[in-house]
Order: sequence, then structure tokens, then C-alpha cells
Amino acid sequence: MRFQHPDRRPAVVTGASSGIGAAAALALAAAGCPIALGARRVDRCAEVAERIRAAGGEAVVHALDVTDPDSVKAFAEQSTRSLGDIEVVVSNAGGLAVGAVHEVDTDEFGREIDVNLMGAHRLVRAFVPAMVGRRRGDIVFVSSDVARRARPFTSAYTASKWGLEGMAHAMQMELEGTGVRASIVRPGPTRSEMGTGFSAEEFEFLIAKWQVWGHARHPRALRASAIADAIVSVVSAPRGVHLNAVEISPEASVVDPEEP
Ligand SMILES: NC(=O)c1ccc[n+]([C@@H]2O[C@H](COP(=O)([O-])OP(=O)(O)OC[C@H]3O[C@@H](n4cnc5c(N)ncnc54)[C@H](OP(=O)(O)O)[C@@H]3O)[C@@H](O)[C@H]2O)c1
Repeated sequence: MRFQHPDRRPAVVTGASSGIGAAAALALAAAGCPIALGARRVDRCAEVAERIRAAGGEAVVHALDVTDPDSVKAFAEQSTRSLGDIEVVVSNAGGLAVGAVHEVDTDEFGREIDVNLMGAHRLVRAFVPAMVGRRRGDIVFVSSDVARRARPFTSAYTASKWGLEGMAHAMQMELEGTGVRASIVRPGPTRSEMGTGFSAEEFEFLIAKWQVWGHARHPRALRASAIADAIVSVVSAPRGVHLNAVEISPEASVVDPEEP
């Protein structure tokens, strides 16, 4: 059995190959957590792990596809073998597709739910029972501001994030008194690789439709590091304090009242 210092908090981050997940891995490592990075693009995870090691941190990479139960199970076993008991799980892997509810193929709809919601549940099953057994640990679900207010033409994504938050809220009640915290970090628009596969037409269409319903009121977007900082704050809260849900929005440009 590996000796584990109580201050050593090994962490796993899913979707660590880009965007918010990569930033979360870097920020948690800077906060002292040994990190296991998981995603399908292991080469991209390896680049992030190299940056962590160059800065003096500890990082390992294990392949992960959250839609494959065997892959999630193997990821959990390998991460624990590499780093010791996992104390922090960041469930971040996610994807977004465009389409009207009545036009989206049901199987495609299901594939998005499979990554964003079922994938998160697979992680819960793989990591949380042992945390409950040890009576300590954090699981953080990266949700989205769509969970508070739906965005049109991203229906499967919206449904998956509403489902994710429903699951997380129920978990918060179920885990009360176990020493394990389930938390929600809810980003607003953030610069990452999400949406970079959209055509210019799709992008313009979405923004126009969102604006009709009061979204995308200004063009500003957050850096991925802003979400990573929120994740670090949530898992760094002292025992006895639970930051249940944190929502992060980009600030609009400062309006100068003197300007004509
Ligand atoms: N960007 C935003 O404006 C925004 C706003 C609100 C919430 N979010 C949420 O933030 C999270 C991260 O997204 P991002 O913005 O950082 O986008 P991103 O740069 O596209 O990152 C998505 C990550 O998810 C991983 N992923 C996708 N499918 C996977 C699978 N089947 N198994 C394992 N990993 C998978 C990708 O890795 P591989 O492709 O290498 O597997 C990638 O690392 C998502 O949950 C998203 O819903 C983003």
C-alpha cells in the first residue's frame, strides 16, 4: 500500500487535452496536486503534462474515452496506481453540436448526452465509492450557463447540462455527511476549442439566434484559466465549507460615461 500524506491530493481531469481541462490540470498542479490527465488525444495531454513537469509538478497521462465504460474503469485503475488514492475528480470532458430539436437525429442527440452526462456518471461510479469509503474527496462537474438558461439550437447540449446539474444536486444531498463534496462549476462563454469545428455560417446563425433570446449580449469571452481558477477555489475550500456551485461570466467592456 502506498503511504499518502494528508496534504497530497492526487487529482484527475477529464478532457485535459485542450481548453478548460488543460487549464484546470495546469492550475491544480500549480496548487500542488499530482495530476492524471485523461482524454482521447493523449499526445495533446502529454504536452500539458510536460508543461506541468517543467514547472516542477507531477503529472501522468492515461488514455480516456468517457463514452466507453472499460476505458473509464481502466483510467481510474491506472490513475490510482500512478498517483495513489484520488482525492479530486474534475469531470470536464464535453462536446457541443448545432441543431433544432425536431431536426436532430435521435442517435446524434444521444451521443452528446453520452459524453456530457453519461460520461460524468461513469466517472462518479469509478471514483466516488472509494472516496465515500475514505470519507474525503471532491468531484467537480464542469457544467455550463445553459443549465440556468437554455440556448436554442444546442438542444442536446442544453439537455445534457440540465441533466448533469440535476444529478449533481441530488448527489449533494446523498453525500451530505460523508465528507465527499460534489460541486458545480458553471462557465459562461470561454475561449477553447469548443465550436471551432463550426462553419462561419453555423456560427453566425447561432449567435443571431442566441441574441434574440438574450444570450451573447456582448462579444467578450473568458480565458480557460478563469474557469481553472474557480475549480481550484472550489476544491481548496477548507473541510466544512462547500462551494456548491460557482458560475463565472465574462465581464462586459467598461463603459466610459465621458465618451460621446
Ligand atoms: N467553451 C465554453 O464556452 C464553455 C462554456 C460552458 C461550459 N463549457 C464546458 O467546458 C468543458 C470543456 O470544454 P472546452 O470549452 O474546454 O472545450 P474543448 O477545448 O473542446 O475541450 C473539450 C475536451 O473534452 C474532451 N472530450 C470530448 N469527448 C471526449 C470523450 N469521449 N472522452 C474523453 N474526453 C473527451 C476533449 O478531448 P479529446 O477530444 O482529446 O478526447 C477535450 O479535451 C465542457 O464540459 C463544456 O461543456 C465550455
